[in-house]
Formats: sequence, structure tokens, C-alpha cells
Amino acid sequence: MANRTHENPLSAVLSGLLDQRSKDPKVDPVSDSVRLDGRVCLVTGANSGLGKGIAVRLAKRGAHVIMACRSGIPQAGEEVRAESGGGSVEMMHVDLSDFDSMAAFCDELRDRKVTLDVAVFNAGVVPVTSRTNEHGLELMFAVNFLAKFVVLRRLLSDGVIPNAVYGHNSRAEDPPRLIFISSETHRSSIPIDFDTFGEPIEYGVTDGVKYYGLSKLHLTTFFHELSRRLNPGGSGGNPDVCVHALCPGAVNSNMAREAPNWLMPVLKPVMALFFQSPEKASIPVDYLVASDEMGEKTGEYMHMMRFKESSEASMDPDKGALLWSKTEGLLREHDVL
Ligand SMILES: NC(=O)c1ccc[n+]([C@@H]2O[C@H](COP(=O)([O-])OP(=O)(O)OC[C@H]3O[C@@H](n4cnc5c(N)ncnc54)[C@H](OP(=O)(O)O)[C@@H]3O)[C@@H](O)[C@H]2O)c1
Repeated sequence: MANRTHENPLSAVLSGLLDQRSKDPKVDPVSDSVRLDGRVCLVTGANSGLGKGIAVRLAKRGAHVIMACRSGIPQAGEEVRAESGGGSVEMMHVDLSDFDSMAAFCDELRDRKVTLDVAVFNAGVVPVTSRTNEHGLELMFAVNFLAKFVVLRRLLSDGVIPNAVYGHNSRAEDPPRLIFISSETHRSSIPIDFDTFGEPIEYGVTDGVKYYGLSKLHLTTFFHELSRRLNPGGSGGNPDVCVHALCPGAVNSNMAREAPNWLMPVLKPVMALFFQSPEKASIPVDYLVASDEMGEKTGEYMHMMRFKESSEASMDPDKGALLWSKTEGLLREHDVL
């Protein structure tokens, strides 16, 4: 259960490579015979990379998969249906950098009386230089962290995700599972500056990864706080909602789509050779969704197929509570709450 911190992203990457050779125990993949028939699973960013791999895997198990995407509609859904052997798949549009789009998406789920058994918050972005969304918020902060807070708050308060804390019937026998795709880069992040919380930041090609790590630190801190809030009785025994996060390791996805053109001829083959396929990278997500064990726990963090503690800062309940209240304040300023 290593809990290393890193001076910089390179040390985080090297640590990740070392972890692959670690002798720490790994979990075994869930057997193909385990079925998710009748389960409704939401996957954000499911038209590409890891999200698509997750969608195929869950559809193969018999789940009804809602692919929440801003592009690739309907082609990506047809591909996932075909690759899963005729799985039950639908696509819904959402732009996770746009508050109105997220509200419309949540309205539709509520109005259709959808009940989610699983939600995988996968969508993420790595702009090559800093950009803001139409609300003036930095894009990685907005998509990699804030969108999860916005969407989840609605889904929990509307009962689309059953839970006791927001006054809906809990499902103690079969708790819903929320999975966040984080990254080991959260360890190498600068600390969250709560005095400048939500203010746009400037970065270029060389320091973008640092702020990517910061967005994942926001997310990882949020995931722990959410797990604590939804399960006030603690993490042991019968959680009301199972909340987990993981770093999938390096994935050969479209994540580097904004890399400079001159780098692409090198980057693409390197990623194809050394990074995992989305199909393989989705195996630990499948573990969090489909294993019996993960339906009896909450607040677990995995790095690929190993359990770990996330960074110390991300687990700090005081920082988690401050993050929550600062986020609510920011959303009030934007008339979202
Ligand atoms: N690749 C890696 O090595 C790696 C390592 C650790 C963690 N991760 C994490 O894994 C997750 C999946 O990334 P990936 O590697 O599979 O990259 P990807 O192929 O680029 O997929 C990212 C997904 O996020 C979606 N997305 C981005 N901005 C969005 C927005 N505003 N609204 C709705 N959807 C949006 C993208 O949609 P569009 O196609 O429409 O842009 C795409 O479906 C991310 O959270 C990433 O941080 C990746």
C-alpha cells in the first residue's frame, strides 16, 4: 500500500512503470461468466479511448450502457454494439464543459425516470495550452473535476442514483457504484490553492501536465469526500453508495490529440507500442463495476490492478470539506446551484 509523493510528473511516470514490476498483490480480472443483465451503466466520454473500452466490456456482460458523449453520436454507439456482440447500448449528448448541456442531460435522465446502477465518470481532457470554457473556467478544472460535481449532485438529488443522504430510498442490498477515472499524476500535483480556487490559470506545453495533475488532485480529493458524505457510517460494511477511483495506467487513446503535429509521427507509434490498449486498460474498471468485493466497500483507489492509497493530501477530510464548500460557492456564483 505505497503512498508515495512525487516531485514532478516524470517521477510519477517512472513510479508507475516500477509499480508494473511490483510484487504487491494484484486482483484477478472478473470472470467472463459474471453477468450484469438488467443493470444500467452510465459511461461518460464513451465514444473514444478508455471510455469506449469500458462501454464494450460492460455491454458484453449484459448491462444496458448509456454512453454520455459530446461527439461520435451515433457511430460510436453502433461500434460498441457491434464489438460487444449486439449489446444494449444508447447514446446521449452532453458537453461536460457547458452547464446548460449538463443540466439538460440530467433533466432527461430524471424525466425518463432512469435509475443508474453504475456511473463511470471517465471523460477527461488535456489541452496543449491553457483554455477557458464559455463560463471563463479553465478547461481541465471544468471537465476533469467540476463537471463530475455538477452532474453527480443532480443525479443524487434527483434520485437517478439511489441514495439515502439526499432523501431517496437507499439500496443497501445492492448499492449503486460510482467510479472516477483519476490518474497517478495527482501525486505530483502542486497543492490545491483554495485562495484562488476556480480562477483561470495559464499554462503552456511544458507545464500543462502539472495542471492536469492538479485537476486529478481535485477529482481524487472530491471522490474521497463524496464517499465520506454518502456513507456517514464509514467505509466498513454495507455502504449506501460505493464510490471508487482508479488510475488506468498509460492508455493508447486519443488523449494526446492536441499534441503538436511535429510530435505525432513519434508519439503515435510510441503509444501504440508501450501503452495498453483501451480494452486491456478497462479490466480494472470492470473489476470495480462487476466484482462482488467492490460492492461491499467504498473509498477504494486502484492503480491498474492493485489497490493503493491515493496521495495523503487527497485523503485529508479537512481538504475534502473545504473543496466541497469552495465548489458549491463557485457554482453559486455561476447560478448552477
Ligand atoms: N490515456 C492515458 O494514458 C490516461 C492515463 C491516466 C488517466 N487517463 C484518464 O482516462 C480518461 C479517458 O481518457 P482517454 O485516455 O481514453 O482519452 P480520450 O480517448 O481522449 O477520451 C477522452 C474522452 O473524454 C471526452 N470529453 C472530453 N471533453 C469533453 C466534454 N467537454 N464533454 C464531454 N466529453 C468530453 C472525449 O470526448 P470527445 O471525443 O468528444 O473529445 C472522449 O470521449 C480521462 O479521464 C483521462 O484523464 C488517461
